[in-house]
Amino acid sequence: MILRTEVLFGRLRETLGRLGLEGRGLLCCRRGMDTGWAGGMEVLRISPEPSLEEVEGYWEGLRGKEFDYVLAVGGGSVLDVAKVLAALMENPGRVRDFFGVEKIPRRMRRLIAVPTTHGTGSEVTKYSVIRVGEEKWSIVSENLCPHVAILDEELMRGLPRELTLQTSMDALCHLVEAYLTRFCDPMVDLLCEQGIRLFLEGLEEAVEDRPEGRRKMMLCSLLGGIAITNAQASLVHALSHVLGGKYRIPHGEANSLFLPAFLEFYSGERKLEELEGRLGRRLREEVEGIRERHGMRRLSDFVGEKEALEVAERAYRNRRLVEGNLRRVELEDLRRMVLRSL
Ligand SMILES: [Fe+2]
Repeated sequence: MILRTEVLFGRLRETLGRLGLEGRGLLCCRRGMDTGWAGGMEVLRISPEPSLEEVEGYWEGLRGKEFDYVLAVGGGSVLDVAKVLAALMENPGRVRDFFGVEKIPRRMRRLIAVPTTHGTGSEVTKYSVIRVGEEKWSIVSENLCPHVAILDEELMRGLPRELTLQTSMDALCHLVEAYLTRFCDPMVDLLCEQGIRLFLEGLEEAVEDRPEGRRKMMLCSLLGGIAITNAQASLVHALSHVLGGKYRIPHGEANSLFLPAFLEFYSGERKLEELEGRLGRRLREEVEGIRERHGMRRLSDFVGEKEALEVAERAYRNRRLVEGNLRRVELEDLRRMVLRSL
């Protein structure tokens, strides 16, 4: 198990103060965030799920300026874009040169990642996902693991109900998918199990915006991030990257559409059955119950059968995510999964 990020817990400003950062900082955040506390840092506001062209535009605006560190405060998009910008500060080339696995030769400029949602786990992952036209492309590099993550559940208070559900579902998918890849080791197994437990305990509390719920989901998301950095995601993400890119569906929601069918695909798998035995719950029933209770949409609310089958075909081409599975996956399996999710 590898964790390249120093993980700190506490209120953002006090914890930042303890880090004793020196020099000039770049603050990446979402539009509309109050940055009155940011002092002399240059502020860059990132739009939600930005395209490759937008990210290139951000870099154009920064080129030639020197920064000693990057502080990213926000959801998955903000953190993912900040990683790419920090990588460009240390590496030659353009954003498009980084797509794929381990294409970034040098560790990025010092990055402090502070999540304000509890889903992507990007504060500790080696991933950055960027929208390219109608697709979502991944950059995968150990040199993208943030140097420091600051976890402050206060920043997650007041997150709207929908976003709470969607991002939490993303975290759950990371844990479940990673658990069912070939890359899991005994320690990652433990992280996945504990993360899933936190999800089951904390989701409804988080939806009600209770502090203990936010804290549990924050930890769940963190564990999910560590899990996918060590063992990667799989079929749910292969499908959701295609669907989300083309139809602009929020990442967590796109994942949640496919999770029950993914669990069905793995029914009878000894490793999953053992986990469910220890949890005392059937995960597919739990997920379906949550989706129903909260009126979450189905795949058929976005696409018909023909488009769904196209999603399966394109997802099947994502060899990295398809081949990592514990079970052998055929195109027919993905077709069955999408039809079952309609
Ligand atoms: Fe994800």
